[in-house]
Amino acid sequence: MIKVENLSKRYSGHTALDSVSFEVGRGEIVGFLGPNGAGKTTTLRILTNYLPPSSGQAEIDGLDVFKDSLEVRRRIGYMPENVPLYNDMRIKEYLRFRAALKGLKGKPMREAVGDAMERCGLHEVRRKMIGTLSKGFRQRVGLADALVNKPPLLILDEPTNGLDPNQIREVRSLIKELGEDHTILISTHILPEVEMTCGRVIIINQGKIQAIGEPRSLAGRMRSAGTVRVELKGDPHFIQAKLDDLSAVRKTRLEKSSNDWHLFVLKVEANKDVRESIDRLARKEQWPLRELSRKGVSLEDVFAELTMHQHD
Ligand SMILES: Nc1ncnc2c1ncn2[C@@H]1O[C@H](COP(=O)(O)OP(=O)(O)O)[C@@H](O)[C@H]1O
Ligand SMILES: [Mg+2]
Repeated sequence: MIKVENLSKRYSGHTALDSVSFEVGRGEIVGFLGPNGAGKTTTLRILTNYLPPSSGQAEIDGLDVFKDSLEVRRRIGYMPENVPLYNDMRIKEYLRFRAALKGLKGKPMREAVGDAMERCGLHEVRRKMIGTLSKGFRQRVGLADALVNKPPLLILDEPTNGLDPNQIREVRSLIKELGEDHTILISTHILPEVEMTCGRVIIINQGKIQAIGEPRSLAGRMRSAGTVRVELKGDPHFIQAKLDDLSAVRKTRLEKSSNDWHLFVLKVEANKDVRESIDRLARKEQWPLRELSRKGVSLEDVFAELTMHQHD
């Protein structure tokens, strides 16, 4: 449904996007994840034809975004980062105005607006002035606007930004519902968002794609596979030095000590389980051991690793 190849964007000398390539298949919900300034909005604005790229190609539904811009726009429901709304219009009135701009007329237009309000939980408040709405409801109006002409593809730029936890939960479940009959590309800088709603994640940082995959397999692919907790009795400095010597251990931290027991948290490498060697070491050194457990990598770890250690 979306195909992006070597897309680059330079703003007066500053490279915001650097040869970005990815695809989104029909029916997918894909998270576009990256810290502020990563290039998410720039990418989405290019895809929705609001911004020309400096170089590269983008296709929506097999159509060139730049050559077939009108056809492309018809297929996309775009919810920008800051939804521009008219505060002195009522919800229904505003959505009818937007639907008319998208070429809908008469009864089909009124029905489409009714459907969109129904889907986004706006029916009860349809006569309210937009200016009086909470941020959560304004986001819903933005979503209703994006889907009013029934486009197959929704592109949502940080749709839960600025919402409180309850509103986030509501918008999130709405997006999941919309995913049943739309392809969705949703940008966010908040991790739990993609873990909960998206089948696939594209991680972008400093204008470059860092990783693409399912949330779980991304976590599995990481170099630092996660952490092992081990609690031992003995001389903490000696223990720490010995643990550090184990080949798959990247870093050892003494988490806490009580009496003679010391809890260490180890950063360990992928695809290696160091628990066996720790157990062997403890027996050899005759250290009593009362905890030895492993925690897999969360997407959070992946994200931190990919975005924080990339300054070269
Ligand atoms: N109109 C613009 N002029 C110059 N630089 C811009 C403009 N828009 C965005 N940028 C820069 O491009 C980079 C990417 O921005 P953006 O795509 O908005 O990131 P994100 O949406 O991931 O936060 C940032 O460094 C930002 O400062
Ligand atoms: Mg942005």
